Amino acid sequence: MRAPPFTALASVYDTIMQDVPYAAWVDFALAGAERRGWQGGGVLELGCGTGNVTRLLEERGLRVVAVDASPAMLDVARAKLTHATLLLGDIRDAALPGSFSLALGVFDVVNNLLEDGDMARLAEHVLAHLEPGGVWAFDANTSVGLEALWGGEVVEGWAGQVHYRWRHHWDAATGLATVEAWCHGPDGVFTEEHRERPYDPGELRDLLTEAGFASVDVVCYPSGAAADEDDPRVWVFASAPADARPPAGVRPPRRAG
Ligand SMILES: C[S@@+](CC[C@H](N)C(=O)[O-])C[C@H]1O[C@@H](n2cnc3c(N)ncnc32)[C@H](O)[C@@H]1O
Repeated sequence: MRAPPFTALASVYDTIMQDVPYAAWVDFALAGAERRGWQGGGVLELGCGTGNVTRLLEERGLRVVAVDASPAMLDVARAKLTHATLLLGDIRDAALPGSFSLALGVFDVVNNLLEDGDMARLAEHVLAHLEPGGVWAFDANTSVGLEALWGGEVVEGWAGQVHYRWRHHWDAATGLATVEAWCHGPDGVFTEEHRERPYDPGELRDLLTEAGFASVDVVCYPSGAAADEDDPRVWVFASAPADARPPAGVRPPRRAG
């Protein structure tokens, strides 16, 4: 059975991802945000999936609003969370309650934005919902990463009761990577096709600066050292301007004279 992305996969996602170092990623993201002035407060999680990061944020006592476009992934998340607010929506334009001190998007979430202009839309939407000085932290696969790691590689194995065979393909013509994710789990066999678009360090700095972020640090994991164009996978820490901005559509008064 062929299934749309993040539908059938939801039921086996946590089993397949059981070795993903979510706790280390959350530590890295929060420590990086703290170094850039974050002192706690409400967190917006973008593309929360099955809620593995959300749960870790909850455990730290953080108030979390988490958005994802997949009802099936959100159903799995809901079962493991106690007080986070889960919203079904598109991270580029979801209606969000209020503003946040930190926005977080973990595990290739932005690479799922495939069209020109998607990343700029997301950046503007996130910035509009960050408090002054708030931080947006996310990871991203770069061109080098998707070409090297997704270029023709087949990953096959067992995770618990799930047999998986994921065929990766890098298309230099379109600049997109594809994975044909075949899984045989307790609920049967399915294949989902997922596509990822790379985002490179220089491109990310330009896009986020253009969107209005005051500083954009693109760094390596786990060192935190500045990334360059050869790095396969990067983390971004983008800070909103520290001064309060007028709400959209409201112009600051002109000075007389
Ligand atoms: C690889 S999963 C990562 C999930 C989770 N962050 C984790 O670390 O396990 C990517 C998630 O992004 C979500 N996603 C992709 N594009 C999206 C969009 N435009 N709006 C909302 N969610 C999106 C998918 O539904 C999926 O749950």
